Formats: sequence, C-alpha cells, structure tokens
Amino acid sequence: MSVPTDFDDLADPSLLTRFLARAQERFGERLAIASSLGAEDVVLVHAVAGLVREGAPPIRIFTLDTGRLPQETYELHEQLEARYGLRIESVFPNTVAVEDLVRRQGPNGFYHALEARHACCAVRKLEPLERALRGVDAWITGLRRTQSVTRTETGLVEHDGARVKLNPLAAWTDDDVWSVIQRERIPYNALHDVGYPSIGCAPCTRAVEPGAHARSGRWWWEDPEHKECGLHVARLRQLEAARRQEERPLSENG
Ligand code: ADX
Ligand code: SF4
Repeated sequence: MSVPTDFDDLADPSLLTRFLARAQERFGERLAIASSLGAEDVVLVHAVAGLVREGAPPIRIFTLDTGRLPQETYELHEQLEARYGLRIESVFPNTVAVEDLVRRQGPNGFYHALEARHACCAVRKLEPLERALRGVDAWITGLRRTQSVTRTETGLVEHDGARVKLNPLAAWTDDDVWSVIQRERIPYNALHDVGYPSIGCAPCTRAVEPGAHARSGRWWWEDPEHKECGLHVARLRQLEAARRQEERPLSENG
C-alpha cells in the first residue's frame, strides 16, 4: 500500500498530516477515523483540520457513543466541532440490542463477570463499529505501542480482515502526544486534568494516582491482559462470545 512507512519513529505533526494526505490519496472517501476523543484522537482531529486548511476534503471522523460516556467527553465533542468546523459523527448502539443486554445482565452487569463486560462492549462498541466501517477500506486509530501490554506490537499499517488499519501514532510516546496538544493548544478532555490518563465509558474508567500506569483506571477490576474492549483485539471472537450469551436461556444469564 502506498502510505509512507518511512516515518514510523517520528512524532512530528507535519509528517502526520502528510501521512493522512497519502492515506486520503490512496483510499479517497473509503477512509475513516475512529475517534474516542482521547488525547491521541484530538491530535488526529487537529491533523485533519490541517489537511482541510491545505484544501483537502475532510476525512470522515466517527465516534462510538456507547450511551455511557462521561459528560466531559460530550463537552469536548462540541468544542472540537466548534474549533475546527468539522463534524464528528456519533454512531450509537442498536436500541433493541441494548434493551436485551440490560434485561439479561442489568444496567451495570459488566462489573460482575468478564463475559458480561465483553457482552456490553460487544453491543455498545463492536457492533456499532462494524456498522460504522461499512463501505470503509481503511480506518485510522489513535493506538500507540506504549499504551499497554496488549499493544506493544501495534504496526503503523496493519491488515484487519479485508480492511487496512492505520495507526499513525503507533510509535508516539505520551510526551509526544501531550507536547503537540500543548503547543498547538488543541482542546482535550477536562478529565485528563483530574487524574484520568485514558478515558472510555464513565462506569469503566476512573482516576489514577500520579505515576500509575495510564490504563490502570480502565476496567480497574480486571487483569491487565483483559483490558481491551475488543475494538482492536480479538474483535470477532468477542462478537461470537456475545452471540453465544444471547442464545442462552434467560435463567442461565441471571
Ligand atoms: S479502548 O479499546 O481501550 O476503548 P482506547 O480508549 O485506548 O481503546 O482507544 C484506542 C483507539 O481506539 C482510539 O484512538 C480510537 O481510534 C479507537 N476508539 C476507542 N474508543 C472509541 C470510540 N468510543 N469511538 C471510536 N473510536 C474509538
Ligand atoms: Fe459497557 Fe463498560 Fe464496555 Fe462501555 S466500557 S461498553 S460501559 S463494559
């Protein structure tokens, strides 16, 4: 594929913009950014805005609104749209699937079993992701290698089934991300200033002590190797597990 791989180790916003431009040339409208509005993702939004200033059409940006996001994330969504004049598309879970899930495991069932947590992520994130990626040949994420033990192998360009997955920040460090945010005055989630290095759904994210691992506040009751919602690891396996749980009689699901 013709996106450049020669700047894998460089955390430079102008190279990032060039990378996105090359991806856009290659994939046209069949390219999309999956944005959680986390620190990495606001850097990507800023880079898209840079491209648009140079005369390129905007790259589609979508966010999976699980229905359980913190208020601060919605505030940031509005701030980013206002600052950059770009639309960030919200993709919601299927209403009937959420109703079924809550009937089976209760509103906060994800705290009680790993299987229940995976089922919630499957309904609120994975199925909407698949829907958001229909018609998309390449998707861009803010994944970085140093984020967690589950991400150390993240490549700049990866195959993801029939699609290509681009992780332009794969080699960036925390410092790289935050120095760009500060230098370019990019809006970021207010929760980052009160001890939340990594932000997902409100009930599954909490503040951490200074110096604690960035993802220790995500699904804090689980082992580090389970701390993925499945957007990136074993997505299809988790969808299958959720389907199996749906097929079980109500009495077994509690
Ligand atoms: S997660 O799997 O633990 O939730 P994390 O929050 O680290 O992921 O984000 C990693 C990347 O996954 C983000 O940069 C973004 O590309 C994608 N992502 C995560 N959550 C969402 C979301 N709610 N909507 C869209 N993309 C997301
Ligand atoms: Fe459900 Fe928590 Fe996963 Fe959000 S992160 S989809 S609330 S289990």
